[in-house]
Amino acid sequence: MIAAAISATGLFTPPFSISNEELVASYNAYAERFNRENAEAIAAGRVEALELSSTEFIEKASGIKSRYVMNKEGILDIDFMHPRIPDRPNEQLSIMAEMGVAAAKDALTRAGRDARDVDAVICAASNMQRAYPAIGIEIQDALGIGGYAFDLVCGCGSAAYGIATAVDMVRVGRAKSVLVVSPEITSAHNNHQSRDSHFIFGDLCTAVLVEAADVAPPHAWAVLGVKLKSQFSNNIRNNYGFLNICDPEGVGKPDKLFVQEGRKVFKEVVPLVSEMILSHMAELNLAPNLLRRMWLHQANSNMIRLISQRVLGREATEDESPSVLHEYANTSSAGAVIAFHKHSDDLKPGERGLICAFGAGYSAATIFVAKAA
Ligand code: COA
Repeated sequence: MIAAAISATGLFTPPFSISNEELVASYNAYAERFNRENAEAIAAGRVEALELSSTEFIEKASGIKSRYVMNKEGILDIDFMHPRIPDRPNEQLSIMAEMGVAAAKDALTRAGRDARDVDAVICAASNMQRAYPAIGIEIQDALGIGGYAFDLVCGCGSAAYGIATAVDMVRVGRAKSVLVVSPEITSAHNNHQSRDSHFIFGDLCTAVLVEAADVAPPHAWAVLGVKLKSQFSNNIRNNYGFLNICDPEGVGKPDKLFVQEGRKVFKEVVPLVSEMILSHMAELNLAPNLLRRMWLHQANSNMIRLISQRVLGREATEDESPSVLHEYANTSSAGAVIAFHKHSDDLKPGERGLICAFGAGYSAATIFVAKAA
């Protein structure tokens, strides 16, 4: 089996950011208007009043203070509450491909690699803006990469499942250099009219260059082991899909956006993921004290704290389990990669870390890495 390595990561950060204060002000204006317009029905008990959101709740429940978005004005406009992302002509680069190309170029530069050295592209994200042609193939074409490309969709596990797939491709010798690109426009599948989830998400794109260890640059990360696990659950769901146009009743239903049972997700995913990490560590003969850092999926600060505590057998420090939630919010599958990208330069040769993603599906992935000696 050929050894695989992570040669570099790259990031594209959207041009706008929305603070909790701005988002809550918009949601509350929407809720107050709804309550005013429905005052009679609410008083008669026919309609339920909308409760107000609060910045204090958001920060305490999730650790999120701000998020980046591809369009700010549409999300905050209480008559729209979605990002305004107009269709582009087919001849123009798609918005997801545009984000992907920017993140990929960043990763290639950091690896000191030319796009022509890459053999394959996987566009791995929790939602694709169209069915075909694959966004991955569009990114491949825009970068002038030979070989092949495809899309991979698996909720918040997508980026990590993409990295795992790239590692397998390298290990069997199908490719020597694979780009895994994760453009997440989560603001477009979030429901900004739902108090329980309007604050959760942010947009971003990451890129990860996975290569055969013998061609990887000296500062690369050896991949020690990869594990994937999925377990069906309806607790995080998005029913948007091509069959929707076949149901005249279905248009505009809230289940065509992100919906979740947040409490159940919390309760079920924390044990599932911590047990998965511990059993993978046992397989790799890796005691907790040999794990320098965990870059966990960035959904919720309490979840990150609890999972790292179960893995280490004690409370983890911010240095051992860093969070980027305050700045980026939940960027779906890109979250663990952002944490790795932002908080990995200081590790010394030989030190080991864990990239771990989890989310809708449920889907979970553990990728153990070691800084090249
Ligand atoms: N502002 C103010 N109050 C709010 C609120 C908001 N925006 N949203 C919910 N509340 C209220 C609720 O109505 C509830 O009130 P009650 O106790 O009077 O019934 C209370 O706050 C607690 O709500 P709950 O939804 O149980 O909060 P929580 O502590 O579970 O936190 C999440 C919510 C979503 C942050 C949390 O459940 C979570 O992160 N779960 C995991 C999510 C996840 O990983 N999803 C994967 C997506 S990739």
